[in-house]
Amino acid sequence: MTRLLVLGSTGQLGLALQRLTLPRGWEIQTLARADLDLADTGAVETALRAARPQVVINASGYTEVDKAERYPELAFALNSLAPAAMARAAYALSAPLVHVSTDYVFNGEKNAPYLETDAVDPINVYGRSKAEGEAAVLSSIALSAVVRTSWVFSADRANFLKTMLRLGETRRDVRVVADQRGRPTPANELARICVALAERLLDGDKNACGLFHCAGAGEATWADFAEAIFSEAERYGCAPVQVQRISTAEYPTPARRPANSRLDTTKIEALGLTPMPWRDSMRDYVKQLLR
Ligand SMILES: NC(=O)c1ccc[n+]([C@@H]2O[C@H](COP(=O)([O-])OP(=O)(O)OC[C@H]3O[C@@H](n4cnc5c(N)ncnc54)[C@H](OP(=O)(O)O)[C@@H]3O)[C@@H](O)[C@H]2O)c1
Repeated sequence: MTRLLVLGSTGQLGLALQRLTLPRGWEIQTLARADLDLADTGAVETALRAARPQVVINASGYTEVDKAERYPELAFALNSLAPAAMARAAYALSAPLVHVSTDYVFNGEKNAPYLETDAVDPINVYGRSKAEGEAAVLSSIALSAVVRTSWVFSADRANFLKTMLRLGETRRDVRVVADQRGRPTPANELARICVALAERLLDGDKNACGLFHCAGAGEATWADFAEAIFSEAERYGCAPVQVQRISTAEYPTPARRPANSRLDTTKIEALGLTPMPWRDSMRDYVKQLLR
C-alpha cells in the first residue's frame, strides 16, 4: 500500500481528496486538527515523521483572508512555518510533497493571466504568508509541487457558492463586486490534479516538480460567478436574485484583494492535467445542495 497523508483533511480540498478514487494501491491517512494543531509548528515535523507517509498533500491553510490582517502570526504559522516543517519532514522521509498556494501572492496589476514565472507581490497578510510558504517548500524539498489555485468552491465548508445560495434564501437582490476577475476552481478538480501530481512525483517525474497554476477553466468576476449560481438555483425552484454589480471601492474589506486573479494554466495543461470548466462543477454542486 502507498500511504498518502492529507493535512487539512476537513477543508474543501481535504474532503474532495477523500472522495476521489485514488490510484490503485493507495490509502489515505489523515491528521486533522484534533490529531495535530498545525499552529503548533514545533510539533509538525515530529508528527509527520511518526506518520511515515510515502507521499503528502498539504490541503491545510489559514484561509480567512480578512481575519489574517488581525492575526498575522497565526496566518504565518499555518501558511508558512507549518508547510516549511512539512517539507523538512517529507524530505527526511523521501516522500514527495504537494503543497497548495494561492493567486493572492500576486498584486493583481497585470493585464493578463499570471504565469508561474511572474514575480510575486502580495498585497495582504494572507498572500504574504502563502508566498513565504511556497518559497519554503520549494527550497526545502526538490521532490515537490506547489499548486497555486484560486476562488475554490465546493458543496462543503464556507465558500462563495454557499454564501450566495444562503443569501438567495432571503434576498431578491445582492450586491456583488464586478471589478475583480479570476478563475473559480472546483475543489474536486483541484483534488484530482493534486493527486495526479503526487502520483507523478512518486514515479520520480521531474516534470511534475516545481510551481504550477491550477484553476477552473473559464474566467469570471465575482458578479458573473454569482449570476451563474443564481441562474442555476432557479432550476431547482429558487426565486430569482438580481445581482447588483458594484466596485471593490463600494465593498470595503480589511484585506485588499487583487483586481486580476487570473492564473494561466498552460504549464499544468502541458502535463495533460487540464482543469475542467468551473461552470460544470458549479452545476453539480448546486444540484447536490438544492435537490
Ligand atoms: N478557498 C479558496 O478560495 C482558496 C483560494 C486559493 C488558494 N487556496 C488554498 O487552497 C488550500 C485549500 O483551501 P480550502 O479552501 O480547502 O481550505 P479550507 O476549507 O479553509 O480548509 C482549511 C483546512 O485547514 C485546516 N486547519 C486550519 N487551521 C488548522 C490548525 N490550526 N491545525 C490543523 N488544521 C488546521 C482546517 O481544519 P479545521 O476543519 O479544523 O478548521 C481545514 O481542514 C489552502 O492552502 C488555501 O490557502 C484556497
